[in-house]
Parts: sequence; C-alpha cells; structure tokens
Amino acid sequence: DKEGWPTFMEKEIHEQPAAIAATLAGRCDADGRLALDEVRIPEAILRGADKVVVVACGTAFYAGLVARYAIEHWCRIPVEVELASEFRYRDPVVTEKTLVVAISQSGETMDTIMAIRHAREQGAKVVAIVNTPGSTISRESDAVLLTHAGPEIAVASTKAFTAQITATYILGLYLAQIRGNKFSDEIQDYMDKLALVPDKVQRILDRAESVRQVARTMTGATSVIYLGRHVGYPVALEGALKLKELCYIHAEGFAAGELKHGPIALIDEGQPVIVVVPTPRRPELHRKVLSNIQEVRTRGARTIVVAEEGDSSVDAYSEVVFRIPPAPTLYLPLLDVVPLQLFACELAGAMGHDVDQPRNLAKSVTVE
Ligand code: M6R
Repeated sequence: DKEGWPTFMEKEIHEQPAAIAATLAGRCDADGRLALDEVRIPEAILRGADKVVVVACGTAFYAGLVARYAIEHWCRIPVEVELASEFRYRDPVVTEKTLVVAISQSGETMDTIMAIRHAREQGAKVVAIVNTPGSTISRESDAVLLTHAGPEIAVASTKAFTAQITATYILGLYLAQIRGNKFSDEIQDYMDKLALVPDKVQRILDRAESVRQVARTMTGATSVIYLGRHVGYPVALEGALKLKELCYIHAEGFAAGELKHGPIALIDEGQPVIVVVPTPRRPELHRKVLSNIQEVRTRGARTIVVAEEGDSSVDAYSEVVFRIPPAPTLYLPLLDVVPLQLFACELAGAMGHDVDQPRNLAKSVTVE
C-alpha cells in the first residue's frame, strides 16, 4: 500500500526518519550503556578482533564504505570494505580474529551469502546487518543486528541504506564500548546526537520541492558526475547509483580529490556536477571541495551543491544549493543522501520511467 504516495520509492524516502529512529530504539540499558542482546558473539572475541571486513553489494556496500570512517575512528580497528562478489576470489586474509560484517537489506543476496560462507569456513565470526528477519543471511550468521526500516518494496534502496548506516554506527559504538578505548566515555553522547538525526532528515524532506524543481530541468542530461570527499565520497557513489538505476543516465561518483587526476577532463559546458560539500566546521575538508566546485564551474559545469545551512561560501559557484542541517561529520551521510535520492526519483518520474521497477533489475539478486 503506497498510503497516498505516487510511488513506493517516494514513500520509502519519506519513511527514513522513522526507519532511523526505529533502528536506534531500545539499544541502551538503564545506565546508558549499549546492550545489543542479539549480538551473541562472546565479548572476548569482539575484544580480540584485529580486523573488521565488511562484505555487501550495491547500496549496502556503500553503507559499508560509510561505516569504515566511523568504526576506524571509534574503535581503532582496521576496516576493509569488500564487494561480496569479489571477496572470496582474491583469497582474502581472514582468520578467527576477523570480524566480518555482512550488510544486506533482503538477506537473500547470493553474492553476500557466498562471502559469509567463505569467511566462516576460515573461522571468522559474522555479524549480519539485515532488514529481513529470518532471511538466509540472518540464519547463516553468528549474530544479527536488525535494521528496522520495515519492508522496502521499491527496487532502488533508500530507507534501508540510512538504516544500515545507523546500524553500523550502533555496532561501531558497541565495539568501542567493549574494547574500552578513549571513545568509550562518549558513547552516550554519540547516541544522543544520532537520536537527533531523524528530525534533521525530516527537515530536508520538508524542503523536497526545491530538489524536485531542479530535477525536472535535467531530463535531457546524458551524464552526471557526483563528487564527495571523506564520508561524502560514498554518498557520491550512492547518488550516482540511484541515477543509473532509475534514470538510465550515465552517472559516476568520484572522490573529489581525484578530480585533477583524470575526471576533470570530462568537464565541459553544461556538464551537470553534483557536489557533496563537507561541513565548514572541518575546514581542511571543506576548502578543498570548495576549490573543486570552483574548478568545474570555471569550465562551464552546472553545479548542484549539497551544503550545510548557513554555508554561504558555496553560493557564488552553485546553480542551486540543497541545504542540510548541521550534524557531526560522521552523521552527515544520513542527511546528504536524502536530496540525492529525491533528485533521482523525481527525474526518473519526469522522464516517464517506472520508478519502483526500473528495467533489468530485481529487488533481490539471488544468483551469483
Ligand atoms: O538486499 P541487499 O541489500 O543485499 O541488496 C544489495 C544490492 O543488490 C542492492 O543494494 C541494489 O544495489 C539496490 N538496487 C540499490 O538501489
């Protein structure tokens, strides 16, 4: 039931505040400590893990790329993020001290299933972050952390993505707590700030019309470039995937710092470039991305920018700015991705495409 929304995708984009809040609910005990009852892996094993390997596909893989920034920062454990379809073919270094995190909305993605089977054969423990209770991945893993996004019907993943990022953050903070490092005293504070994210997402949704207007001017685009730095980089990749899936337009996400190493040759008059700008409170990131916007603008690009409320430094170089409420840097992907989802959804509709069932795609990919 679309509950009055024109498409399931639109409905699911708007369900994100609830999906994030539901994924966060009930994770702390009365003392404010994280208590993940479903993660039954003995604490000694979690404490002794020397590496985290995330395996996933598509959008879930991009959630893993976001998670790497948080888990490495909080836990000081090296994190690898691997496409599940590639994982077992490269003879990966996996031991009993490896903690594998499998991320999947459906829990039925065959590439991810085969990756976790391979990991468990090497003695690794697997935590599954899945949205579907009882799914194959949840049954075949040592522990399950459920995202509570509710059923996702549209083929293009939206609320599962933001719920997956939320779940990886809970897991990262839990590992920090168990391992007792310098962040373990700040866990409550991080959880409190995470709890503020759903309202911020809602604020972005309330301004959806400005995104829709721009999207409707792009029906003739044949290529769109997405740029991001730090946590904005996987957001750029995810934004580009949404456009490919829904609009059948060639789209590519780049790490903004890579621009000068090649992709800038693509820029000519009228090339749409969507830039995810870091918060000005991280000047070392912000000023570099600002200069990337200037570089592409000088070469005639149409610059569409996602930037924090009040960041006027981008105005002079942007055709349009989508505004994001301020939040801690690690939480920005949960906000930055929302206008990119709305953009692809609206453009696909304006181009006359089937938003919920794009051509050639299935909701869950049960073959390798
Ligand atoms: O069900 P899963 O999360 O394992 O699915 C993984 C990918 O197939 C999925 O994210 C796919 O990339 C989506 N269509 C993206 O919108």
